[in-house]
Amino acid sequence: MKVAITGASGKTGFRIAEEAIKKGLKVKKIVRKNSNVVEDSKNTETFRVSLDNNDALDKALENVDALIIATGARASLDLTGPAKVDALGVYRQLQSCKRVGIKRIILVSSLCTGKLFHPLNLFGLILIWKKIGENFLRNPSFEWTIIRPGGLNESEKIESENIDYTKEDTQFKGSIPRRLVAKCCVDALSNKQSINKIIEVTSSSENKKVSFKKAMQNI
Ligand SMILES: NC(=O)c1ccc[n+]([C@@H]2O[C@H](COP(=O)([O-])OP(=O)(O)OC[C@H]3O[C@@H](n4cnc5c(N)ncnc54)[C@H](OP(=O)(O)O)[C@@H]3O)[C@@H](O)[C@H]2O)c1
Repeated sequence: MKVAITGASGKTGFRIAEEAIKKGLKVKKIVRKNSNVVEDSKNTETFRVSLDNNDALDKALENVDALIIATGARASLDLTGPAKVDALGVYRQLQSCKRVGIKRIILVSSLCTGKLFHPLNLFGLILIWKKIGENFLRNPSFEWTIIRPGGLNESEKIESENIDYTKEDTQFKGSIPRRLVAKCCVDALSNKQSINKIIEVTSSSENKKVSFKKAMQNI
């Protein structure tokens, strides 16, 4: 299986690429012209494209079986970032998927999307634009999975962390290491029961250990 990962230069995106490679998948990293990416494996190729260049994006997405979207507006003074990246950027990626025939798509979104009164919205109403991005994906043209993580952290100590997997709009706080989010994205690729589901994820050492497969039977 060949998977494309957009936002592969990001802190979650590069981990998704690593986890996919560990599972033996071929990876196409899709990043911006000036993104920093580690060229790490013979099973990886990197495409540098702008999301608003349809032809270049189509070319980058050709001949892949699935797309994992890990793009997200980076915190900045430009408050239009979330609209441009988390809604329009997702829309453009999905239009490209339709043109080149990719059906299977995993989107890294966030807990609390759609909530108006939330401190995160001080950054360009990000939770509203993320919900709009999610809604573009929730479309019969696609076999979609939306992963909604809590606050992301850089911890790589994941052995004692267990994931709480729940359905849409059931978790409103909590955090999770990006490494575990990356694993969820890759687990979703090989699990048909994750199709057409929104999966909210946080983690803690106090949660019971549940496999992704088992969790999908209850969501
Ligand atoms: N931070 C949190 O606590 C949190 C919580 C829940 C959900 N999330 C969401 O989870 C996802 C991953 O978060 P993260 O913190 O790991 O991401 P990140 O490190 O900020 O990486 C963001 C990625 O998106 C790319 N990107 C940004 N603007 C772009 C544009 N205009 N065109 C193309 N690519 C663009 C970046 O490329 P460059 O490397 O070129 O900048 C980078 O690869 C995001 O959607 C984020 O909103 C975050």
